[in-house]
Amino acid sequence: MKISLFYHGRVVGRLVLLLAVLFDSSAAFAAEQEGGRERLSLNRGWYFHLGDVPMAPIRGHSESYMNAKAGNAPGPAGREFDDSEWRRLDLPHDWAVEGPFDPNENISQGYRPRGISWYRRYLRVEESDRGRYFELQFDAIATHATVWVNGNVVKRNYSGYNASYIDITPYIRYGDAMNTIAVKVDATQMEGWWYEGAGMYRHTWLVKANPVHIVTDGLHATPRLESETLEGGKWSIPVEVTLNNSGENLQTVTVEVTVTAPNGKQVAKQSGNVTVPVLGEAVAKLPVTIQSPALWSHEQTNLYRVNAVVKHGKRVMDEIVLSTGFRTVRFDSQQGFFLNDKHVKLQGVCIHQDHAGVGVAVPTSIWEYRLRRLKELGVNAIRFSHNAPAAEVLDLVDSMGFLVMDENRNFNPSPDYMQQLEWMVRRDRHHPGIILWSVFNEEPVQASEVGYQMVRRMVAAVKALDDTRPVTAAMNGGFFSDLNVSHAVDVLGANYQVPDYDRFHAARPEMPFTSSEDTSAFMMRGEFTTDYDKNLIASYDEDFAFWGNSHRDAWQAVATRDYVAGAFVWTGFDYRGEPTPLAWPSVSSFFGIMDLNGFAKTAYYIHRAQWVKDEPQAYLAPHWNWAGKEGQTIPVLVMANVDKVQLLLNGKSLGEQVVDPFQMNTFDVAYQPGKLEVIGYSSGKEVVRNSVETTGKAVAVQLVPDRKALVGDGFDAMPITVQAVDAKGRVVPTNNSLIHFEISGAGQSIGHGNGNPNSHEDEKGATRHLFNGLAQLIVQSHYESSGNITVKASSPGLKTAKVSIPVKKVAAVPYVASQTAPNVHLSDWRTSPVASQRPDPTQKVADNDMNSWGWGQPPFMSQAKGETAPARYRLYRTNFTPRKNLARGDGELFIGDVVGRVEVWLNGELLYKKDKVRKQTLRLPIPKGEGNRELTFLLEDEGQDNAVIGGPVIVQPKGKK
Ligand code: GAL
Repeated sequence: MKISLFYHGRVVGRLVLLLAVLFDSSAAFAAEQEGGRERLSLNRGWYFHLGDVPMAPIRGHSESYMNAKAGNAPGPAGREFDDSEWRRLDLPHDWAVEGPFDPNENISQGYRPRGISWYRRYLRVEESDRGRYFELQFDAIATHATVWVNGNVVKRNYSGYNASYIDITPYIRYGDAMNTIAVKVDATQMEGWWYEGAGMYRHTWLVKANPVHIVTDGLHATPRLESETLEGGKWSIPVEVTLNNSGENLQTVTVEVTVTAPNGKQVAKQSGNVTVPVLGEAVAKLPVTIQSPALWSHEQTNLYRVNAVVKHGKRVMDEIVLSTGFRTVRFDSQQGFFLNDKHVKLQGVCIHQDHAGVGVAVPTSIWEYRLRRLKELGVNAIRFSHNAPAAEVLDLVDSMGFLVMDENRNFNPSPDYMQQLEWMVRRDRHHPGIILWSVFNEEPVQASEVGYQMVRRMVAAVKALDDTRPVTAAMNGGFFSDLNVSHAVDVLGANYQVPDYDRFHAARPEMPFTSSEDTSAFMMRGEFTTDYDKNLIASYDEDFAFWGNSHRDAWQAVATRDYVAGAFVWTGFDYRGEPTPLAWPSVSSFFGIMDLNGFAKTAYYIHRAQWVKDEPQAYLAPHWNWAGKEGQTIPVLVMANVDKVQLLLNGKSLGEQVVDPFQMNTFDVAYQPGKLEVIGYSSGKEVVRNSVETTGKAVAVQLVPDRKALVGDGFDAMPITVQAVDAKGRVVPTNNSLIHFEISGAGQSIGHGNGNPNSHEDEKGATRHLFNGLAQLIVQSHYESSGNITVKASSPGLKTAKVSIPVKKVAAVPYVASQTAPNVHLSDWRTSPVASQRPDPTQKVADNDMNSWGWGQPPFMSQAKGETAPARYRLYRTNFTPRKNLARGDGELFIGDVVGRVEVWLNGELLYKKDKVRKQTLRLPIPKGEGNRELTFLLEDEGQDNAVIGGPVIVQPKGKK
């Protein structure tokens, strides 16, 4: 029946209309699936090409004419490009971290080549899914990306830090025809002066939903306090659910919203009907009130679940869940920051998003490790500088308890860029952890009217989406001019500018103020000599940028001023690029409180002593392995949060000092090997004791996994600390052995690092040097794995270490299966006019003739319903280029359901002649050879009204079923 709808590739209008109605009702049924939504990981099975793929220039008329036609993107953007020899990989992927270090590349990007590369993937969609809504989601791609689906450009995205949600429903081909996704990533573009990675470095998803569905980020549930006080507080969530309808019928649905407390009790419920127009949106407004909820704070992360269910009658058509929390935030111009009316000094860090071994493709579990390290350090606030982090990172923020400044990347109120800002607010506004929106970092126009006017618009865009949080901008000056950005924001964020803190506060006492960035001190983990000629910087907190301060001074400036809401230390972790104050061979930063692995530098102990209040602490720097320096003076930094400290060397007291909680305490000690010990006293009593010891030489490698086990979902990963120990099991802090890794079993290494900013070692290879005693290996489970990951670490002269990490079997994260390069369904054909005499099958169609031959795809029929005379002869023509694997003589042309007399011509030569009328399926070997093929069918009708090329016509491996 369907076949008769086509007449030589042209559609018979009336019949189509009738059938469309019939077809839609069944499609609507098939599409409307109970439960509705599937969000499937699309991380597996991409084809990758490092570097751009040169395109042949477009010259002729026909090429030019076709070039911009829908579905006709050329080269690797196209549907049938030969990618069979491209590298196969799974996402997330950062190709920059795989590249070599090159002194000619950009210092800011860590001297790594970036450039342009391509990704392609095939996607099979079953017939049974016809009529559903399909959305591609790219959580972020560095940096600019163009996305094609089946040769149609569907997205151009101009930032490496925002997600793209792409409705691909209209382009989908069902069943064997297969779909092609192509992504061109242009990482020659830069948005930062730090390492940004390159490629599809965050997760990728395919969402399948019913035609009426909740749009992505379309559940708005941000709580607000309605009563005057928190005590017995009445809260509301003015829930809004935005729905879209990709179907062909207007639909009225019921939307039900429920709110569930952390203890599992439902605390609010609301529902209502909404009519969603065809190809349009509708918003269901379903406000709820909640009395005296358990408050969220960074110390007590009470999270409530908000559920939105869309129902059609009794059928559940869609469902979205998010978590949120009840808390108030207030920035006071005199007293700083208040959370739930309780004063909290922000002990914050700025962080970028790359980690050792993996670049910016950081697994969620490694983020959990990073945030855990910050928590242990006493950090309560994070500025994700200078961009929105991955969504899963903010979920961790909420559950682990951090106060976040969520920062927009590109400062520009023009529509493209405003969309990036609005995307961030829409995605993130339900997170209780977010206390501030930041619209920019250090913009040169900040001191001017232009800056003010630009910010005003961006602030308004934020407030239109979320008026529950203040907006800031991180200014590095310019806030004393008559009209500047500070006049358009709620909280002034100052980067550095310590000498101006008080001046500004005096000039604008009504303006809430926070440091948005401070410190910028330099140190290398485990290094205690500064020698710029050797690219070495000591860890004594004495080296810092001339615009910044030492860790100790920066915190003192904030801690001693009530009106300053808090500090955001530049930075929590080292990152690649920006090796200020040095340059090549230094390739990563010296700013971190921790190194690129999350290993503690001296700054870690300084801040821990400053920030952790409920535990007596005393730490020492440096280590105590100074063979050859016997008798020489070694400066010792004692970092403590007690009243008084006493230092002892080999049991002999070297004196006592009253603790300076900001500057800490220093002792000059004449070196003798042995044990250097600190005893801390409070209220006259010993409350803490700590020591460093001279170790023996290293005798063994040791591996210390971060967690006891992994889950076998292919996502879970953990760091393993690699160290060298002496005969007494003490870590040797000066050891730099070369370690060789062997990983087997249920997982793999995804990279390693050692925290040395001067290291040029391959981060993915089988070996790594320890740096000042430590390295880190990151292992990740395989998809659908269980058993153990076994890691062996060996080094000449040292005892080999071996650990076995159990991998627990778990259900796979729902995913779209990988597909290999599909068989090519030839679907773009030219159809000749009818001829009563046998036409020449090798005849050329003039390059500029787009009209005398028609257009179509199989089935091809000699005579359609309604035609009075049989069409005696007709030619059908297409072009294809067999993939390399089929060009070696292993390919065949599959031609389904051929009835009547047909000649098949390939590149001007007769390939096959079918004389019999009866129905047959043809499999014709494709002669060896590369390059374009012109395929022509000559269909002859003998008046029986039954000559048909039913199709499909497929280029495939010989003998394929
Ligand atoms: C700031 C900037 C940061 C970083 C830092 C280094 O000006 O906001 O991204 O470059 O300097 O000190």
